[in-house]
Amino acid sequence: MDTPFDILHIDPDADEADVIEAYRQRVKEAHPDHGGSADEFQRVRAAYEEIRTGYSLGERDIARTDERDRPTDASEDDAESDAEPDGTRVEYLDYDVLAEHSWELTDEDLFEKAAAAGLDAESYGTVVVEPRTCLLKAAEADGHNWPYACRGGACANCAVAVVEGDMEMPANHILSSEMMDFGIRLSCISVPTTDEVKVVYNIEHLPGLDELRLPSQQARRVRPSD
Ligand code: FES
Repeated sequence: MDTPFDILHIDPDADEADVIEAYRQRVKEAHPDHGGSADEFQRVRAAYEEIRTGYSLGERDIARTDERDRPTDASEDDAESDAEPDGTRVEYLDYDVLAEHSWELTDEDLFEKAAAAGLDAESYGTVVVEPRTCLLKAAEADGHNWPYACRGGACANCAVAVVEGDMEMPANHILSSEMMDFGIRLSCISVPTTDEVKVVYNIEHLPGLDELRLPSQQARRVRPSD
């Protein structure tokens, strides 16, 4: 039976950077759009998750993932939280809406304009993120269909721009320091650290992020640029 390392075509001693690089390569190869299949794609994703979260190979425990590097998930951990007990109110806006209204990501009154524009709930609204819960998971629990691929910090499909407040990522192997300074975060592993947060989602086609995307794991909405 193939181990997760066999599936990713890496040595069990591979370091984290090599694991991520191998995963990015294998997930592309396995994607149905690139000659793979849905089953193979899921197999590669599962292998990557196993390696990230720890995997016992015979006598050797290779659970090398530091707990701090794990995506935070309320369903996995009942430990005390430092975050607000009632969760964080995250106001969201779909990046596609900006072009339609000639708004800019850097507009200081971006969310005021969004609130007054009568947008539908998929384009603009609020989601409450429970303590120790990642934004993407909270958005999905609220019925949203935001972009993602790996769900493990290895691509930019789930990227959001934080325009107010902040969110913390337990690890970052993908985004440049400039992107981080600009407020870009990966919603699949990011947890709000302020009482209120405002984010623009669906930004994965921005320059610099587009190159970091992986084949999507979900049906995507049709965009004029696609
Ligand atoms: S979905 Fe790949 S980093 Fe979030």
